[in-house]
Amino acid sequence: MKLKSRIQKIMWGNKYALLPYEPSKKTEPKNMMEIRSAWKGLELIIEDILDRFNIGRESCIEFGVEYGYSSVVFSNYFKEVTGVDTFDGDIHAKQKGNHFERTKRSLEQFENISLYKSDYRDWIRKDSKHYNFAHVDIIHNYKETYECGLWAAQHSDCCIFHDTESFPEVKKAVFDIAKATGKTAYNYPHHHGLGIIV
Ligand SMILES: C[S@@+](CC[C@H](N)C(=O)[O-])C[C@H]1O[C@@H](n2cnc3c(N)ncnc32)[C@H](O)[C@@H]1O
Repeated sequence: MKLKSRIQKIMWGNKYALLPYEPSKKTEPKNMMEIRSAWKGLELIIEDILDRFNIGRESCIEFGVEYGYSSVVFSNYFKEVTGVDTFDGDIHAKQKGNHFERTKRSLEQFENISLYKSDYRDWIRKDSKHYNFAHVDIIHNYKETYECGLWAAQHSDCCIFHDTESFPEVKKAVFDIAKATGKTAYNYPHHHGLGIIV
């Protein structure tokens, strides 16, 4: 964890505390991708979240696909998965160069995943659809997470956010989005942390 995040974690302490999320079961999805990802481990609690909050299984939108680890996890549970990413990387995920075609090729067997090379800012300006589920895992700054996450929470029944533990700014954004939308926020503290707004 970077020094700035460490200091924020100490300074903010329990100020932005979310309700603890405790899964009642863990399920390994049938289809998974053999690729390195900080998301690894979280696939075990997705079905639990969907069942717990009675979330529909039609549509899911994801902001922050990278090489597709989480997209493939979602493809097990939803009829359609929409993945949005610049596919250029960022200061936290590292600048990876354009990997849109590479990711598209490696996910082509998963026919229910559609990938779009777009900044979330351009996407949210033109999309007014409501999704059953949303996932936000973009650059982990407060401003971007809040802006993208507020749209995602307003356009879905349940929205999850990765990296609430390694990036206190993400946890603060989750806290503030729940407040702004009147929804409830939970936190699962493992695998770098998962915020859940429902
Ligand atoms: C941590 S990675 C996503 C990891 C992925 N969810 C997984 O399962 O491995 C973050 C991604 O967010 C993307 N990203 C960063 N800022 C973005 C923005 N403004 N709009 C769209 N995508 C963005 C980066 O290109 C990067 O691929």
